[in-house]
Amino acid sequence: MGSANSLKLGLFGANCSSGRAVTMVPERWSGNWPDCVRLAQMADRAGIEFMLPIGRWKGYGGETDYQGATFETVTWACGLLAKTERLTVFGTVHAPLIAPLIAAKEFVTADHIGEGRFGLNLVCGWNEGEFDMFGVEQRAHEDRYEYAQEWIDVIKLIWSDREDFDFDGKYLHMKNIRGKPKPYGGTRPVIMNAGASATGQAFAVKNCDAFFLQASRTSLEESAQRVRRAKDAARVQGRKIGCYTVGVVACRPSQKEAEEYFRHCIVDCADWSAVDSILALKNISPQTVPMAEFLAQRSGYAQGMGGLPIVGDPDHVAAQLADLSKAGLTGIAISLVNYLDELPYFCDEVIGRLERMGLRERPATA
Ligand SMILES: Cc1cc2nc3c(=O)[nH]c(=O)nc-3n(C[C@H](O)[C@H](O)[C@H](O)COP(=O)(O)O)c2cc1C
Repeated sequence: MGSANSLKLGLFGANCSSGRAVTMVPERWSGNWPDCVRLAQMADRAGIEFMLPIGRWKGYGGETDYQGATFETVTWACGLLAKTERLTVFGTVHAPLIAPLIAAKEFVTADHIGEGRFGLNLVCGWNEGEFDMFGVEQRAHEDRYEYAQEWIDVIKLIWSDREDFDFDGKYLHMKNIRGKPKPYGGTRPVIMNAGASATGQAFAVKNCDAFFLQASRTSLEESAQRVRRAKDAARVQGRKIGCYTVGVVACRPSQKEAEEYFRHCIVDCADWSAVDSILALKNISPQTVPMAEFLAQRSGYAQGMGGLPIVGDPDHVAAQLADLSKAGLTGIAISLVNYLDELPYFCDEVIGRLERMGLRERPATA
């Protein structure tokens, strides 16, 4: 993805209202188009490697209708790719909800607009309410990945030199397939997946270039083990994958200010009714899990939707990112409460420190 930096950086969730902060604070992210463009151009200038949107079709309700307004991700990526020069922009696509022939061509179109900078985040979906809106029944968990395997296999074939071929799988029966043009520049878009189950992880390791895993909130060694397991599993198949994670950053001049702001947004002003509706979709409630686990999950989702909270002054934030690199991670996709307001300080103070630590190089034009 776009650079030789040993710790790559991305922005996660900017196509959605509120981004990834389940908060009622008035400065929460708008997700509107002018803000997305300004953010992408700012990230591009700073040498940030990628933007990763969320494929979300329905908001979570609550006071703020958390993630209620979202841009469709492939068209969003096309617009941002046209307005930037270096950044990789992902589309996040639900394999069961879009015919592979359309998907293959959309991705090629985006890839040509970005001159090779489009990336695909392949997701199988989990939210039944979203599938109901399509009139599509969600498959059983294992079958989702079996279907996704055929979906990505046929897309890769469409991108290859094969022409006028048939594909006869368990789910897909397609005849005389052809697709032109091919992806830009004789390569193919980078593909990522973030499966958390054993089946999801095996799918990512087998098919993807980038695997997003959950970093441990308590143990760097545990994170390092997760990375090693994924890379070893890829190596057994003769593949090499990059491992990434997601984090929620609050960076302020002092540790105290950062912690206070984080607490203000994500605890005191959390949109708790939205948090509870996310948990209900995942079948997490005081009726289904022990109360202590419910409360821990509730707090975890409010504080970054499962992403790693990285809260502190620039030294602390840079050190925590450097630790993730030491654990073997290739990169991290971060979220900020208001990406546009907070990114300049992050770039000046944190990225500067990462450059001095040798984890990143200063982009030519910065
Ligand atoms: C970085 C990241 C991005 C994700 N993006 C989406 C998304 O946009 N839409 C979606 O439905 N699921 C998304 N997911 C969920 C995963 O694709 C996956 O379904 C989830 O981690 C559960 O794993 P499993 O499918 O193996 O059970 C994302 C997960 C992560 C960690």
